[in-house]
Amino acid sequence: MHSTGFITVPLLLSSGAQAWGTLGHATVAQIADNYLTPAAKTYVQGILGSGVTMASVASWADNYRYTTAGKFSAPYHFIDAEDSPPSSCSVSLDRDCGSGGCVVSAIANYTQRVQDGRLSEENTKEALEFLIHFFGDITQPLHDEAEEVGGNDIKVTWDGADTNLHACWDTQMVEKAAGGGNSTATLDSFSQTLIGRIDSGSYSSEKASWISCVNIETASDCAVGWAQDANAYNCQYVLKTDESGQELDGDYYTGAEPIIELQLAKGGYRLGAYLNNLAAAA
Ligand SMILES: *[C@@H]1O[C@H](CO)[C@@H](O)[C@H](O)[C@H]1NC(C)=O
Ligand SMILES: *[C@@H]1O[C@H](CO)[C@@H](O)[C@H](O)[C@H]1NC(C)=O
Repeated sequence: MHSTGFITVPLLLSSGAQAWGTLGHATVAQIADNYLTPAAKTYVQGILGSGVTMASVASWADNYRYTTAGKFSAPYHFIDAEDSPPSSCSVSLDRDCGSGGCVVSAIANYTQRVQDGRLSEENTKEALEFLIHFFGDITQPLHDEAEEVGGNDIKVTWDGADTNLHACWDTQMVEKAAGGGNSTATLDSFSQTLIGRIDSGSYSSEKASWISCVNIETASDCAVGWAQDANAYNCQYVLKTDESGQELDGDYYTGAEPIIELQLAKGGYRLGAYLNNLAAAA
């Protein structure tokens, strides 16, 4: 590739290669914000700066990873589970978290750093922005999967356009589930829909199980559990059928939509509970 800098970077980002897209991350952050205690709101605002919303910083880590300074953080966005979907799904920290780190070790590291107190304001803010982002990544099933580079190497089409399975889970299917597009109005209405289900709808009876482990003292153990929970969907649905060369904007999307909505709601509700615990310990 002869082009560099501003040509290359947007292409990488728009391919959605590595994370819930902007809308997915913003949705997780906006849901979390809804469940913050007053103390946690103050805590978060004190770190991010007044007027800065969690949703607005939720995708910072995806931009940072493509910079020279941020390249080290690229492995923090996923854990490459070396399992055998669709027959066997599992996550093992020893087996799957590489020497460069993974989303589980990153959540543990930035949990420690956000509480450190000796770090600069900038580094503390960065730690919180990483946490907000990784709570989204870890709920995306293909971020907890090594198979075909987390689905990046499974070429598919979406509405006739060439893309890959991972990108569809990150971006195209999220935008469709949200009602199309990527605007503030879409973010607000989608977040509200999922919050409604958490509060008094189809998720209300299971939401307690989503936060059965949100102890900041055992961040790594909890995060392995969150990764396992998401990874299981690779056997149940995501990689159950061979979608190579298939059009996903159809039956596959119909089956994926409930999983996407559930995982975004789960990530947001869990992040809210976790930030409440961080604020209570501060
Ligand atoms: C923790 O985060 C810092 C700051 O980004 C990084 O320099 C360090 O390598 C990380 N440590 C681990 C064990 O991930
Ligand atoms: C979605 O909207 C955000 C905020 O306006 C923007 O930064 C981002 O680039 C957009 N993403 C896509 C894929 O259009």
